[in-house]
Formats: sequence, structure tokens, C-alpha cells
Amino acid sequence: MMKHSLRFPFVLLVLVATALSCCSVGRRALTLQPIYSGDASSSPPLVAEALNETLFVLAAAEPGAEELRQDVEDLLGGNLESAEVIGGRYRHIEIWRRGAKPGGRSGLMARLRFPARGEHPDHSRVFPEFRKLLGDWFRDRRQFRPDVMLELLERIKRPIDLHYGYPDTGRPYATCAVVGNSGILLKSEQGDLIDGHDLVIRLNNARIAGYQRHVGSKTSLSFINSNVLRSCSLHSGCYCHPYGGFVPIVIYICQPAHFLEYMVCNSTHKSPLLVTDGRFDTLCARIIKYYSLKTFMEKTGNHPMLWGKFHDQKMFHYSSGMQAVVLALGVCEKVSIFGFGKSPDAKHHYHTNQKAELDLHDYAAEYEFYRDLAERPEAIPFLRDAGIKVPSVVFYH
Ligand SMILES: *[C@@H]1O[C@H](CO)[C@@H](O)[C@H](O)[C@H]1NC(C)=O
Ligand SMILES: *[C@@H]1O[C@H](CO)[C@@H](O)[C@H](O)[C@H]1NC(C)=O
Repeated sequence: MMKHSLRFPFVLLVLVATALSCCSVGRRALTLQPIYSGDASSSPPLVAEALNETLFVLAAAEPGAEELRQDVEDLLGGNLESAEVIGGRYRHIEIWRRGAKPGGRSGLMARLRFPARGEHPDHSRVFPEFRKLLGDWFRDRRQFRPDVMLELLERIKRPIDLHYGYPDTGRPYATCAVVGNSGILLKSEQGDLIDGHDLVIRLNNARIAGYQRHVGSKTSLSFINSNVLRSCSLHSGCYCHPYGGFVPIVIYICQPAHFLEYMVCNSTHKSPLLVTDGRFDTLCARIIKYYSLKTFMEKTGNHPMLWGKFHDQKMFHYSSGMQAVVLALGVCEKVSIFGFGKSPDAKHHYHTNQKAELDLHDYAAEYEFYRDLAERPEAIPFLRDAGIKVPSVVFYH
């Protein structure tokens, strides 16, 4: 397999490079210098600087961008239907492609189901707000603006502090803990250490009951992806609070249709329910793609152009943990990272028996990123253009 990839036809490489350079955002045009051009032994070594440049260009390429655009346009142009399901237990909000008739299933683009009992969003407002939120997010999503990091204090920390009644200092938290869900936590008894931080961020509603000795019991901020929010929306009042209903939630959007869930949940939610900025999503995506390309190149010896043969290019995504860590960089002076990492004798998640990792993430690349954060943050591309002073980061194994 690997052998075969080394013999990737040179002509094809040139074609791929041409296609990529059309949408490149690099300062210079992509100079193609494959490490291996048919016969590895006779090819010239790649100039390090050109290779760096290639990594930047490839990190900016988004193979799924066209599909995302199409999805968003369809959703923005669709018709809203709202229906009471027979039996009365659920209400549905549906988005149909404009012109498509209910009943013709192919026209259905998004459906939100939520319990008929309990609080309800004001249906007349759902669609205009959905359109506005989705449109704004998508506009921002298409911008590459590392300086969005400078806005996190205002956009994330401020609403949290207002909610908790903390003074509005405009300053970062002195200490933050980002608690990942890796099974390695169960060996550590770091619960008290974690709880000693000013801000404790937990991920994707991982349970803490029964694990406090290892994972702590304090939660200041719950960071979830919108798939988790979607499952919450099936509960009365969008119950999404394993840490208590008072804890603010930050969500990143995996699918544009999930703004429907957001609308419904936000209308019944008592604590802040904040969505990550589209520019922030793009920054995180680019950083992790860069690290994935770089580790791929270093581990396999392949040209980074071949990365797409080994990864699901359109689905590839940073993990929730990675984005929570980057969020902490913008609102904290000192960041401690717990429960990230693997060990052969540890479970994937401390609180579940899930075996397999999702292959749309590249955890090895994310660990390289965390290592650079702790040891040489100045080497991290894109982040160093953000205009922030990267806080000191300590990685607890
Ligand atoms: C390539 O980028 C890395 C950071 O990822 C940097 O440490 C290195 O000096 C760069 N090399 C060249 C030749 O620019
Ligand atoms: C979410 O709900 C809060 C409280 O009702 C409201 O202030 C806020 O504007 C809503 N957020 C969005 C993005 O609609």
C-alpha cells in the first residue's frame, strides 16, 4: 500500500497541484516539488522553505467547501414547515427545499423534532432568526482572520462573567483547565487539581458523577459540538445539563442545519448558549489541517499532496477538545490540559466503553499541536498571526 503510494504518477501530481493552486491563498504560487516523483531514489530533495509554503497552501484548501456552500444556500432558500405529529408527543420543524411539496421526501432538508410538552420557541420567529444566524456564521466561516482570537474575551468571557455576576475586568482568567475525556484520567486522581482552576471547561457532556476523584466536580463552561446539542433537543426544555442548568454552554456547529436545534434550545435556556464564531472555526480547521499534513509528511515520507489519499478530505475535522483548548488560549493566562492523550491500557473515553476513535479526527496531529503549544508556541503557524500572547500551557499526562 505504502509502496504503491510512493509510485503515485508524477503527471497526476502536477494535475492535482494545478487544481489546488487555483484556489490557493498563499503569498506565492504553489511551487511543485514532490519528494517522490516516480522513483524516490532519484528525486531531488525538497527545499524546506518551499515545503513549508506548500503546507500552508494545502492547509488552506477546503475540499468540502463547495458542499457546505450548497447546503447553506439550500437551507437559506428553503420553506419552513412546522407540524404537530400525530399522537401529539412531538413537534416538528422542517425545512423543505423551495417548491418541493411535503410528502416528496427528497425535498426535506432538515427536520427538528422536539417534545410537544414543555416550553416552545415562538414559531413565527424561528425561521427569520435561523436565517440570520446561519447567514452570519457562514459569512464569517469563509473569512480567514486569526485576529478573531482577540475577540474571545468579549464574545465568550464577557457573557459568562455577566451570567455568574463576576466583575467585568476585561482581563483573562488567571488559570483555566480544559478537561478532555480520555481514559488516561482514571489513573491520575487529579480531581482537586482540576477544581482549583478559575475556569474549568468540560467537553461534550462527559459524565463526572462517580469519577470526581479523577476528573473533579467543578464545571464553569461546557463545550459541546452541535451533534450533542441535537440529542439534547429531544429532551423537554432541551435538557443538556449534566453539570447543572446554570453552567454556560459553548457550541461549535458541525452541520449548518443544527442552527435549528440552536434556535429551539436557546429559546428555553436559562444560561448563555453561545455559538463559536465562523472565523474561529476556520482558524482551528486550518491549524489542525496543517499539523495533520506535517505529521503525515514526517511519518510516512510522502509528499503532503498525497495526504488526501489517507484521510477523508471532506469530513476531516478538528476535535471538540482541540477547539476548546484554542478557546482557552484566548480567555486565559495559564492553561492546564487534562485528559488528552492515549495509552494502550486506558479506555478511549473515561466515561464510556467506546472502542474506536472517529477517523475524521487526527489525534496524533492534535497532540503535536499541543506539544508545540507547551514547548514552542512561536512555531505554530496561523496562531502566531493572531496578535495574542499565547498563554503558558501545561499538559498533564
Ligand atoms: C518551517 O516551519 C517551521 C514551523 O512549523 C519552522 O520551525 C521552520 O523553521 C520552517 N522552516 C523554514 C525553512 O522556513
Ligand atoms: C439566545 O437567547 C438569549 C436569551 O434569550 C438572547 O439574549 C440571545 O440573543 C439569543 N441568541 C441568539 C444568537 O439568538
